[in-house]
Amino acid sequence: MQLNGLNNKVSLARIKRARSGRPSLPSTHALCSLAPMAGITDYVLRRIVRRFSPNCLLTTEMISSELLAQRVDTVITRRDDDHSVLAYQISGHKPHLIEAAARHLSEMADIIDINMGCPVNKVVRGQDGCALMRTPELAADLVRAACAGTDKPVSVKFRLGYTADEMNFVEFGQKMQDAGAQFMTLHGRTRAQMYAGKADWALIRRLKENVDVPVFANGDVTDIESAQRCLELSGADGVAIGRGALGDPTLFHRIEHYLNTGEKLPPPTLQERIEILKTHLDEEIALRGADAGLKFVRKFYPYYISGVPNAAKLRAQLVTEDDYDRVVNLCNRIIIG
Ligand SMILES: Cc1cc2nc3c(=O)[nH]c(=O)nc-3n(C[C@H](O)[C@H](O)[C@H](O)COP(=O)(O)O)c2cc1C
Repeated sequence: MQLNGLNNKVSLARIKRARSGRPSLPSTHALCSLAPMAGITDYVLRRIVRRFSPNCLLTTEMISSELLAQRVDTVITRRDDDHSVLAYQISGHKPHLIEAAARHLSEMADIIDINMGCPVNKVVRGQDGCALMRTPELAADLVRAACAGTDKPVSVKFRLGYTADEMNFVEFGQKMQDAGAQFMTLHGRTRAQMYAGKADWALIRRLKENVDVPVFANGDVTDIESAQRCLELSGADGVAIGRGALGDPTLFHRIEHYLNTGEKLPPPTLQERIEILKTHLDEEIALRGADAGLKFVRKFYPYYISGVPNAAKLRAQLVTEDDYDRVVNLCNRIIIG
């Protein structure tokens, strides 16, 4: 069987930036990455994803360079030894803070990623995130600053452009590469689109064909079929998955397994999903304490229980429940049906 994903399979370690003298990317055969999601891709979720997929690239949610420059360690920076390859994503627009943040993260990170794609008003008003696509010189300075602060590879994540009339992603990507970026993730939407419409995977090919560094395609990959289609259309080296992994942290492993062997593993059963949910809950409580952990997990319930009969009613019960035992009882009742 012809698998397009296999054609794209690269050892990221093979791609070196001799030109810039930067260190090579860590040795990995990653075909998938966990896309950064604020308030979602925390230590616990990264840990759960890693249990299923030994190879996927993990990413933290974005961490403010201002916070990191003050060396304020938060729960966000926590990692285990087996989390490698792990990218820490930083946000900001001040080169000296990005440099300090990269220096601070150097010991923990395998890759330092700079957020140049966040579309949120509060972020772009502060010149961070996708606003950097309108200031490519500054964005390049940030890449150079990060490279100055760390001997770890530096990567960038961005969108097609700020608006449909400003789709500068090819020149932007080339500029970031010239500044020292060794890996990039492209979300196939503009900032103006936010999360509406469909990610344009075919456009991502233009970036892939015009830079030398590995490119991961991002946006709307939710299953094995969409991952394969995205790789076919984009020609990318891998796919970055965010929302599609919510409620199913096995997705990375299932996609990788398919691309490597041609075998489609089934998605987790309801019972397996509920078991993962209970692990998620227990580990958030261990990380954050009983109250905060229980509250933190509320945003995940709709995904873990999607497709269950009476899901809306159950969700309403779960998100208002303050008692751990009652949450677990509700979960167990879902399995019994
Ligand atoms: C709740 C949420 C939080 C996000 N936080 C970040 C972030 O911290 N950094 C970032 O680069 N992108 C962030 N994103 C964007 C995702 O990484 C990804 O680009 C986007 O969701 C499209 O991919 P998907 O369709 O696979 O979800 C976030 C998206 C969501 C839904």
